[in-house]
Amino acid sequence: MSLLVSSWSNGVQSVPKDYVMPPEKRAGDFVNICKEIPVINLQNDRSEIVQQILKACQEFGLFQVINHGVSDDMMADMMVLYTEFFNLPVEDKLVVYAEKYGGQDCALYTSGLDFAKEEVHYWKDTLKHGCHPLENHTPSWPDKPTRYRDEVGRYSIEVRKMAFQILDLIGEGLGLNKGHFEEVSCEQAMVNNYYPLCPDPSLAMGIGSHTDPNLITFLQQDQYGLQLQKDGKWLGIEPIPNAFVVNLGYQLQIISNGKLKSAQHRVVTNSKAARTSIGTFFGPSLSLNPTVIGPAKELVTSTSPQMFKSYLYEEFMVDYLVSVRIPGSGTVLDSYRL
Ligand code: OGA
Ligand code: NI
Repeated sequence: MSLLVSSWSNGVQSVPKDYVMPPEKRAGDFVNICKEIPVINLQNDRSEIVQQILKACQEFGLFQVINHGVSDDMMADMMVLYTEFFNLPVEDKLVVYAEKYGGQDCALYTSGLDFAKEEVHYWKDTLKHGCHPLENHTPSWPDKPTRYRDEVGRYSIEVRKMAFQILDLIGEGLGLNKGHFEEVSCEQAMVNNYYPLCPDPSLAMGIGSHTDPNLITFLQQDQYGLQLQKDGKWLGIEPIPNAFVVNLGYQLQIISNGKLKSAQHRVVTNSKAARTSIGTFFGPSLSLNPTVIGPAKELVTSTSPQMFKSYLYEEFMVDYLVSVRIPGSGTVLDSYRL
């Protein structure tokens, strides 16, 4: 029997006990959609967009973009494709299935990175794989649905173009030279999540509260479920057709010397509709030369002293994974602050 939630949850009437979150990790009261989270039109005047993005990154660490250059048809096709993928017969999904995620180029796993070690599981399945350069990765991708490699390959290229434009806008807002983020954004991976219908959203969670460890993430979503924590409160992210949710990871907070925020977020479950999200993650490479990361020197001044130490990304990732695995170990940033 496969452990994938998408393969056993259809029609279940109650949440199995190893999916019941302890009270402090449950979703709590319904969280409304927050209309203050900026939705930025990338066709607007450049200097206006730079200011809007800068403000959004300072206040929320998250914003949405529309008219970003990735076509509406392509985005719609991707949503259909992934929903189809997660609804394939289990034997097709087992081809890429892994009991735990340990850095494989492509893996379909359920809940967190190591199911067997978890006390309580999340109500989600995840398909994760590398994307750049394409030819290094496509052979490990699913070949069902049959259009997968072709469609996802074309999408990865378009998302990369958009991502680099947005990183340039962020760099400009911070006063950094063009291309500042080149080395720390070269790695591109997709993390696609599927959250099946859940019989009791008050008990189970899609993903617990976390901050992405990478530089920046671009997410497509079809249903409500994603929430952002700001000033101790949860805010709902509106699913806007053809928009990307852009959220900042720890690396942008550190490189910006704390001028930008990273986004702490989570996903709640839903009893009326299954939810698919398509995430593209950009960050430093773990397989090429070791990448040294730290606050940009242009952003360290006498009035803005260096807030974080410099480090190797691979060391950061080890610490991040420990902080995720061991409850109560605090946030990974604590040991990087000066
Ligand atoms: C993630 C994540 C959000 C979503 O995979 O890191 O936060 O909506 N996903 O699935
Ligand atoms: Ni995330």
